[in-house]
Amino acid sequence: MHLRCSNTECAATLDLHDRALSCPVCAELLEVVVDPPASSPAELKRVWLERRCSYDPRDLSGVWRFREFLPNEYSRIVTMGEGNCPLIEGRKTAQWAGLRNLRFKHLGWNPTACFKDLGMTVGVTEAVFVGAKTVGCASTGNTSGSLAAYAARAGLHAKVYLPAGYVSANKLAQALDFGAEIVHVDGNFDAALGQILQDANDGLYFLNSINPFRLEGQKTAMFEMLEQLGWHTPDYVIVPGGNLGNSSAFGKALEELHAAGFLDKLPRLVIVQAEGANPLAQMWRSGSDELQPVDNPETAATAIRIGNPRSWKKALRALRKTNGSVIDVSDHEIAEAKAMIGRDGIGCEPASATTLAALRTLTQQDKIDRDAAVVAILTGHALKDTDFILNSRLREPVFEGVCCA
Ligand code: F0G
Repeated sequence: MHLRCSNTECAATLDLHDRALSCPVCAELLEVVVDPPASSPAELKRVWLERRCSYDPRDLSGVWRFREFLPNEYSRIVTMGEGNCPLIEGRKTAQWAGLRNLRFKHLGWNPTACFKDLGMTVGVTEAVFVGAKTVGCASTGNTSGSLAAYAARAGLHAKVYLPAGYVSANKLAQALDFGAEIVHVDGNFDAALGQILQDANDGLYFLNSINPFRLEGQKTAMFEMLEQLGWHTPDYVIVPGGNLGNSSAFGKALEELHAAGFLDKLPRLVIVQAEGANPLAQMWRSGSDELQPVDNPETAATAIRIGNPRSWKKALRALRKTNGSVIDVSDHEIAEAKAMIGRDGIGCEPASATTLAALRTLTQQDKIDRDAAVVAILTGHALKDTDFILNSRLREPVFEGVCCA
């Protein structure tokens, strides 16, 4: 395995453990190139299922269980049994969105209650491997909680850059609880990311999703989802988009599984952004090939309050590969959909509810068929942002269309 520039026209290669954050030739992001597995898809599907009966820490992890597709030469992995997240049938939510076959892949059931743990187990394992002592990130909240927890497990110092005043109290509390050093940045996530990149030096191992090892872990959400579906590809996978690392990771997973003969067809990837933080949706609608950052992103879904997503080119590749699309939804639609997910007994944080809000619009516009098999990715747990719940429900107790029965 090695690192390669994600710009296919450049395709410069680097050693797998090189700490460069971008291509030294053309400055585009890097990606891990996975060697094709030695075993057949049928054999690997069997082995991965068998590992569910094992107590080896690598098998107990829903990430490392799929290690044939991961960097895997580590003698020590930093794991907390991440992954193993359920696929939950939507009931009232399905009806509300006009669908007959809706499931939620709830990544909020991870150790720190969001999908970041899938990437952090690989990222922090790599950090330990290369001898880092301090790990760092900029964050709208979730990455910081996850980084802080995995760093604490590994005995590393965590330094997190947060947009002051725009991180939910619950997420800030997690980062503090796990002992992270907090740098409050006067500005939004894009400014915080800019600042940490400026401050970065050899002493700080950088763990935002432009780190390709993060995406390797996050891609396993697709492996687990497909396994749970008996390797029957759904018609659509719908996912919230902020910095666009997660959608890029899903695209990479699908590309690799398809190339290795695990899948006959690919699901269409739908990325959802909040209306006030929608650079990819704007680009998609305009048909342009260049992303124009949104200068002052605004949305109550603070997790995805991002105007200048760094992984947009990788996400675009995933959209093209899967015949996907991009849509944006308003904060009101997010609040309504979130309330509905709660009524189904599932719950999620605001950013995750963009998926259901978008599905309702897409079925109303006949862009998704009622009978389509759809998996919506819930990225964070309901308890990640309790102020949002209290503020929205106390102000506006009943939302139109959200049934109470
Ligand atoms: N959903 C939640 C709950 C998130 O926390 C994030 C990103 C996303 C969706 C979007 O994922 O950035 O890979 O497109 N949160 C980051 C953070 C930015 O710092 O916690 P993405």
